[in-house]
Amino acid sequence: MARSFVAEIDSPAHKVPVRACVFESNPPVWLFPSVGEYPLYGDFAYGQMLKDELRMNRYSEAVRRYAPGRTVLDIGTGQDAVWALAAARAGARHVWAVEVIPKSARIARKTIEQAGYADRITVLEGLSTDIELPEPVDVCVSEIIGTLGGSEGAGAVLRDARRRLVKPGGMFIPHRSVTTAVAFDLGSASAGEPPGFPLFTFRYVEEVFSSVGRPFDLRVCLVGLQDSPETQERSYLSGTAEVEPLEFNGDLRPEGVDRAEVTFTRPGRFHGLALGMRLWVTEDDEPLDSLVQPSSWTPVYAPLSEAGLPVRSGDRFAFEFTTTMSDDGVHPDYALTGKLHRDAGPAVPLRWRSGHHQDGFRTTPFYRSLFP
Ligand SMILES: C[S@@+](CC[C@H](N)C(=O)[O-])C[C@H]1O[C@@H](n2cnc3c(N)ncnc32)[C@H](O)[C@@H]1O
Repeated sequence: MARSFVAEIDSPAHKVPVRACVFESNPPVWLFPSVGEYPLYGDFAYGQMLKDELRMNRYSEAVRRYAPGRTVLDIGTGQDAVWALAAARAGARHVWAVEVIPKSARIARKTIEQAGYADRITVLEGLSTDIELPEPVDVCVSEIIGTLGGSEGAGAVLRDARRRLVKPGGMFIPHRSVTTAVAFDLGSASAGEPPGFPLFTFRYVEEVFSSVGRPFDLRVCLVGLQDSPETQERSYLSGTAEVEPLEFNGDLRPEGVDRAEVTFTRPGRFHGLALGMRLWVTEDDEPLDSLVQPSSWTPVYAPLSEAGLPVRSGDRFAFEFTTTMSDDGVHPDYALTGKLHRDAGPAVPLRWRSGHHQDGFRTTPFYRSLFP
């Protein structure tokens, strides 16, 4: 039975046809838009983050270790103010909790009052890049890591915090992130039928279009990969490359060009890359890895070839991954150009571009088929 069908979603200008899919309890992969960079957070997204045990444990341990006796800034505290409350409970001297979504800031303030910490945590509504503090803090904790490491603006936001809001030599939690890339066989992951958006995800696609003001080729996440080692085994065709290094306690560069290469370790059809992130919450932690672990961060699909190029073990994909700041000064635009080197035949040039709020709708075969 066909799982996918064409439906319509709203966009600011007009209705847009979209490839939808039936949502099953154990489906092959399906799509969800990347929402954190707009930022679109509500009960569902915050709930997913609180359920992510690895994330919660790593952050809790780090906050308990570094907050006692110190002043703390929690950037993006969210409606649950989890790290602000954890810092206060661990004995922080004072906590500044900043949140840009007004509703989340209001709920956070109430949660903090009910927990009895209103005298030790001050909630500031707005962007961290717009606020002032009475004095720089000792520790900055934040979880504004995106589906691609820097896509929610961690590079620009935490560089600003370091310059204005944190004492020289102050500590940043998390310590470091990178974006990861693995060659991907979409057909194997989705049992031959291209993945679509289940109906319940439409409102998130609509909210992304509405926050940008028009439909565009938004970043799509592949849901269902992380929970299934078998699907990873079938569809991840290569080793993993790391790009976009962000050193929150070191030389933090939100923009750059990274050269990388992946070598194919099994035969298949190369449709594109699955992009994820690795996150070191503290320096001595094992990184969280969104390509292979169940997590609240989902891999992003970077389509490169609609039909898929046949590859064999030992073939290579060499590429340049470019991160530039979009014109909002916070959220990066990403671009990738590369060449597939196979055993026989000339190298095949391939490219991908994904702007935060770029012009261009249905610009590639993947998006023309997703929005038919
Ligand atoms: C991934 S959620 C994390 C929520 C909570 N800290 C946690 O770890 O569960 C990121 C939150 O940061 C907020 N945010 C992102 N960038 C921000 C900024 N520059 N200033 C203030 N809030 C920001 C978003 O609105 C969102 O609520």
